[in-house]
Amino acid sequence: MSSTLPLQGKKILLGVCGGIAAYKSAELTRRLIDQGAQVRVVMTASAKQFITPLTMQAVSGYIVYDDLLDPQAEAGMGHIELAKWADLILIAPATANAIARLRAGMADELLTTLCLASPSPIAIAPAMNQQMYLALATQENLNVLNQRGMMIWGPAQGQQACGDVGPGRLLEVPDLVQLSCDFFAPKEMPLLGVNVVITAGPTQEAIDPVRYISNHSSGKMGFSLAEAALAMGANVTVIAGPVHLNLSTNIKRINIKSAIDMHQASLTSLSEADIFIACAAVADYRTEQVYVEKIKKQSDSDSMTLTLVKNPDIIADVASAHNRPFCVGFAAETNDLETYALDKLKRKNLDLIAANDVSVSEQGFNSEKNALTVFSKESRFDIALNDKKEVAIQLLKIISTEFKK
Ligand code: C5P
Repeated sequence: MSSTLPLQGKKILLGVCGGIAAYKSAELTRRLIDQGAQVRVVMTASAKQFITPLTMQAVSGYIVYDDLLDPQAEAGMGHIELAKWADLILIAPATANAIARLRAGMADELLTTLCLASPSPIAIAPAMNQQMYLALATQENLNVLNQRGMMIWGPAQGQQACGDVGPGRLLEVPDLVQLSCDFFAPKEMPLLGVNVVITAGPTQEAIDPVRYISNHSSGKMGFSLAEAALAMGANVTVIAGPVHLNLSTNIKRINIKSAIDMHQASLTSLSEADIFIACAAVADYRTEQVYVEKIKKQSDSDSMTLTLVKNPDIIADVASAHNRPFCVGFAAETNDLETYALDKLKRKNLDLIAANDVSVSEQGFNSEKNALTVFSKESRFDIALNDKKEVAIQLLKIISTEFKK
């Protein structure tokens, strides 16, 4: 019985830029073809200083494209046609120059023009000196490209051709082939078409025009959930407190500051919510009075008193709405995790509660990692300590299974 190769029938446009790692592009072409791909190669002018078009033609089996204004090439497959042909554009190696030019949307040579003219997904495998990679300009360019939806594959760390050690090596050929296979692998889309609303980050409760009460929530868990839900096919809305993190452009982001604003935005979102995940660290109290002018230091007293009033419980109000979505809350606890989490599940009328032990320093608030114990009325699920992105994927798998019950 013959099994289908992971890249069978997939059309990959390989962009080769002028870095020493360009010599690996020939091997990459071979290995992509081994997995069933059709590969067409585009080379920049400087790439040809490192590896010849003849080599790339020999390994790909097709003429190499290297000129935007070549009448002969245009008579074959024109550049717009080539841009539309690709199922994936993979730029490996991508130099700092190519990355900067992509960010700027340059169209004065073939490779960046094809990227502009193509509706296809684009993956960039950076390869350059570690200092160039770490330079703010390159980092900013990569961030912007990533936000626009381009995939950034690598780089790897290690010994560089110039003798430096650090990040900037082209990923190894087997890794690039694996990432290409993963990209084309059928995706699990358990939340396809489901509307998911997520609250994330802290809230800020104003005291006067310059001061506020807040907390150390980074928003990472909520934002990771949003990206994971998007990848699973959901239509995602994030109601975010002040958080210095970016979200994919196809996630709807509503920025708020106070708990009252978050409450209002959450109730407004209900008409479009199938699942509501309350990941925000909402301030429990706000000041009774917000001073219009900056409060002056009193010379005649060593203390001052602010009266705080309770904020509305957003998730509890969402869960008691008549058009209530599937509701997921979080419980950050320092002790008796199960007892407090189950109490919250019941008291707030939730479908699921994700509890984390914030007495453990490596997880939770403002950390890169988290571990969760998730409770429904009948079941318990444990998600081991991991990167928040991975924890988010696992939590959403549990949510989607329970939501469909
Ligand atoms: O009651 P506690 O703050 O421990 O509950 C935590 C859960 O309730 C979280 O899901 C949090 O986002 C949500 N919450 C809320 N509105 C509040 C306080 C907490 O939605 N005012």
